[in-house]
Amino acid sequence: MSALQQKIEQAAAVLRQAAREFAPVTFANSLGAEDMVLTDLIAKHQPDIAMFSLDTGRLPQETYDLMQAVRVRYRVPLQVYFPDAAQVEALVARIGVNGFYDSVDNRKACCHVRKVEPLQRALAGKKAWITGMRREQAVTRGSLEVSAFDADHGLQKFNPLLDWTNAEVWEYIKANDVPYNALHDRFYPSIGCAPCTRAITPGEDIRAGRWWWEDPQNKECGLHVGKSMPLKRV
Ligand code: ADX
Ligand code: SF4
Repeated sequence: MSALQQKIEQAAAVLRQAAREFAPVTFANSLGAEDMVLTDLIAKHQPDIAMFSLDTGRLPQETYDLMQAVRVRYRVPLQVYFPDAAQVEALVARIGVNGFYDSVDNRKACCHVRKVEPLQRALAGKKAWITGMRREQAVTRGSLEVSAFDADHGLQKFNPLLDWTNAEVWEYIKANDVPYNALHDRFYPSIGCAPCTRAITPGEDIRAGRWWWEDPQNKECGLHVGKSMPLKRV
């Protein structure tokens, strides 16, 4: 059995365990390359796992196109959560529509309103959630585990692709004809909100295009940072 096939079987086993021991479980789907692998694995191995996406209101058009493609291709419905309108209005009044460029505090405030608060609603009543995080993605992700209690949100958290390499993610996508974000073919390996994501140049770190004006140790939006995953001081 190839190394990738082994990892596929392990990831499928993690999905089965999550569904068996932690129902109701939900998958946080950003439509990134890793999450498209998980979408395909869930559809094939554990289609009763629900999935959701956080629409910040600032996503690239290509991500919306992919959301629509997922709806057509997979039978698992993708539930979309939006930020609270009153909170967005208050934030924009306070920092301006693009005020996230002005300071790390402003950027975190924007991520809080547009991602973290909607995430809390998406996770309410769930016993576990699944993410597509990989260990090698960032200095902030080295010590993650495949399954661990998420003390910040009060439920179990699974990272079934934790030890997959970037090459393995792409090998899976190509071999299974999985739809993916058109921006990946234009040197965007990691995609978030449009104003906070840029293309990278050859040799740059895969997350160099995310919040590129900030230090690497700040580069988490708050979805995965807290008591259980403190920001690294380097
Ligand atoms: S981020 O914290 O820097 O934005 P990244 O894009 O690497 O995170 O994604 C890590 C994981 O967080 C994804 O695999 C996914 O599970 C979850 N995630 C990130 N953004 C979203 C989103 N907009 N909707 C749903 N889940 C998301
Ligand atoms: Fe706001 Fe940028 Fe965070 Fe998106 S990534 S929520 S636009 S600061």
